[in-house]
Amino acid sequence: MTRVFHRNPREAYPVAVRGEGAYLIDREGKRYLDASGGAAVSCLGHSDAAVVKAIQEQLARLPFAHTSFFTNEPMEALADALVAHAPAPLEKVYFVSGGSEAIEAALKLARQYFVEKGEPQRRYLIGRRQSYHGNTLGALAVGGNAWRRKQFEPLLVEATHVSPCYAYRGRHAGESDTAYGERLAAELDAEICRLGGDKVMAFVAETVVGATLGAVLPVAGYFKRVREVCDRHGVLLILDEVMCGMGRCGTLYAFEQEGVVPDLVAVAKGLGAGYQPIGATLVAKHIYDTIVSGSGFFQHGHTYLGHAAACAGALAVQRRLHDDGLLARVNPLGSLLEKKLRAALGNHPHVGDIRGRGLFWGVELVSDRASKAPFDPKLRVHARVKKEALKAGLMCYPMGGTLDGVQGDHVLLAPPFILEEAQLDELVSKLGTALEAVLKSAVAA
Ligand SMILES: Cc1ncc(COP(=O)(O)O)c(C=O)c1O
Repeated sequence: MTRVFHRNPREAYPVAVRGEGAYLIDREGKRYLDASGGAAVSCLGHSDAAVVKAIQEQLARLPFAHTSFFTNEPMEALADALVAHAPAPLEKVYFVSGGSEAIEAALKLARQYFVEKGEPQRRYLIGRRQSYHGNTLGALAVGGNAWRRKQFEPLLVEATHVSPCYAYRGRHAGESDTAYGERLAAELDAEICRLGGDKVMAFVAETVVGATLGAVLPVAGYFKRVREVCDRHGVLLILDEVMCGMGRCGTLYAFEQEGVVPDLVAVAKGLGAGYQPIGATLVAKHIYDTIVSGSGFFQHGHTYLGHAAACAGALAVQRRLHDDGLLARVNPLGSLLEKKLRAALGNHPHVGDIRGRGLFWGVELVSDRASKAPFDPKLRVHARVKKEALKAGLMCYPMGGTLDGVQGDHVLLAPPFILEEAQLDELVSKLGTALEAVLKSAVAA
């Protein structure tokens, strides 16, 4: 009998005992190809010698020094590395221990910025429906996933939500990308006006939507229009790159491909790559300067922020990405993965959409391709795909509620940047096996 309060206490989990490159191995010796990096975390696979060595050496030298007393070398070096690759005006880094904490820090920075700037009336947050920004109360409030929010609603700070940029379902027939992006920006503009232009603090969005929609890209020009709307109203743009950032989409920051720079950006999963828990919020100069020249103090903080061993690990991850060419592998590998996915599943009667960028791909499952009708949620197609994939020795990240938090199923893929072509074939073949096993019976049901 386990004493652990597991994520899903009714589930019997295999015991993971070893990581070897792109594979996890359980106590029975079964190997699982990690095609989702857990939840888009393990971008370097599971046994990167350079990262392990950097953490071991740091632990031997200095595991931890509380940041109210000291700074530490790996934290300073990691901030330098992150800012060196970030566009102006992003020039400071606030370290935390994960994605939700990075979002919480961004929300509080936004609020404190406006208080210190003399605009204390700015208190509203706008997010997008179906978005996920973490499970702490602030992050959950700004997230728009109905199912995740429902029972905690009475505890959540006020936030409203506009439509996601989800072309497969949201773009009208005959509407161009440009027109769709403009329509969504107009919706954001209208929501800001409804709340009172000078009462809104920030708009929060994932640059590329991960877990809840399945690697959904913004249409070209969408974020430029969004940035214009935010600027017109003095509203901050907070981008959540906890999942899609740190090279997952082919550039260190996913927003680099959208022609905008946010005021605050949250990163986490690929920052530590699973070797240590770590997250960070990159902060624009105007926010930092306002707080430092005002109260001089960001009223926030956690015990483990800037943890020396975590920072040393993340710094080694950055070196592997930039100096050892792993970031440069993402786009070519991603193109190969796309080609193989489209060849294997592109004409599948229950695959409605294959979308993504870099090594971040989503496959949306439908009961009918022409009408895009989802499967009956009672069939729990996503949960069954996860189970069948594990049976076949594949970790992928299926999720339900793609349309509205209840209906819809997709599979998210986020394999490590170290994959070889043969493993891409293994991935696509095992995914096909899992889908076949589930979809045949789902259709018959
Ligand atoms: C986009 C996004 N933001 C925030 C989070 C929360 O991160 P964490 O689970 O590290 O708190 C996640 C986690 O899946 C995420 O995908």
